[in-house]
Amino acid sequence: MNTQELINTTKILVAGSKGILAMDESNPTCNKRFAIVGIPQNEETRRAYREMIVTTPGLNEAISGAILYDETIHQQKKDGTPFVKALIDAGIIPGIKVDMGAKDMAGHPGEKITEGLDGLRDRLKEYYKMSIRFAKWRAVITIGNGIPSQACIEANAHALARYASLCQEAGLVPIIEPEVLMDGDHTLQRCFEITEKVLRSVFNQLYTQGVILEGMILKPNMVLPGLGCPKQESSDKVADATVNCLLQAVPAAVPGIAFLSGGQSGELASARLNAMNVRFKSRLPWALAFSFARAIQQPALEIWQGKETNVPKAQQALYHRAKCNQAARLGEYNASIETT
Ligand code: 13P
Repeated sequence: MNTQELINTTKILVAGSKGILAMDESNPTCNKRFAIVGIPQNEETRRAYREMIVTTPGLNEAISGAILYDETIHQQKKDGTPFVKALIDAGIIPGIKVDMGAKDMAGHPGEKITEGLDGLRDRLKEYYKMSIRFAKWRAVITIGNGIPSQACIEANAHALARYASLCQEAGLVPIIEPEVLMDGDHTLQRCFEITEKVLRSVFNQLYTQGVILEGMILKPNMVLPGLGCPKQESSDKVADATVNCLLQAVPAAVPGIAFLSGGQSGELASARLNAMNVRFKSRLPWALAFSFARAIQQPALEIWQGKETNVPKAQQALYHRAKCNQAARLGEYNASIETT
């Protein structure tokens, strides 16, 4: 294992004011998002969509790394340039989603366990040869009546740690994503408690498996009330809850925390990340960055509509959201940026 290479890659991914673009929707998820806006769902539309994203002018000003899906890393731009090469040429590190999805957990109705460890060592070797330098694995935790169970939390934490260890062995930085979902009517406080419990379990398992904390990135949810909770909270309240929760559970040796957006609007995700950096940045051991999918892509997807003529406008929208999140990392985001 080349520890120094892992540490260097991690540093580049969360350095300065940049963040990660998650463009790793599986085919079913990508198709679902296309269907909602009326875009045909096939390999060529998915390829064209990813070409629109990867060729966005100036994307590397705010984006350090892009997480791809396996189909995408085998695809090319229309001119024949592989997407992986296009990203590297643009100064963006290519990454890969390696989990095989969250499946129903046996004996635990309403809960999920992420699969994908079988054969992972060989897949990671191949990805490294293809110049991929980091990976992502997402675990899903649902808050509900009597859930999450300890069994679900522990099984997912264990899988995350085994995945992370395999990644580091292969020279890829693991992005460790335990997502506590926003679905439900739970309060901010309950999300705090569950997120803290999940993170403690994850770091216990990472310690047990010997994962190098300096060579990983944590990708957590923000601490939020459930979507159905009547009491929604201000950005400052969300920022305080999220950072205080992370301070309880995330070791200082972790270089960076890159949030998922989880279905928040682009504006809210930026405002909340900004509030965290305004209120805490100078006092934190880790960088607070972003690894958003929907909160960067959604407006661009709606503008693109699968049409070549809409590409420049869609790219402007993508660039705009990336820059908004860069501003949020610096604590310089405000509503007026949205209209400029
Ligand atoms: P969202 O930002 O849309 O939650 O996606 C992040 C991600 O990578 C999910 O695994």
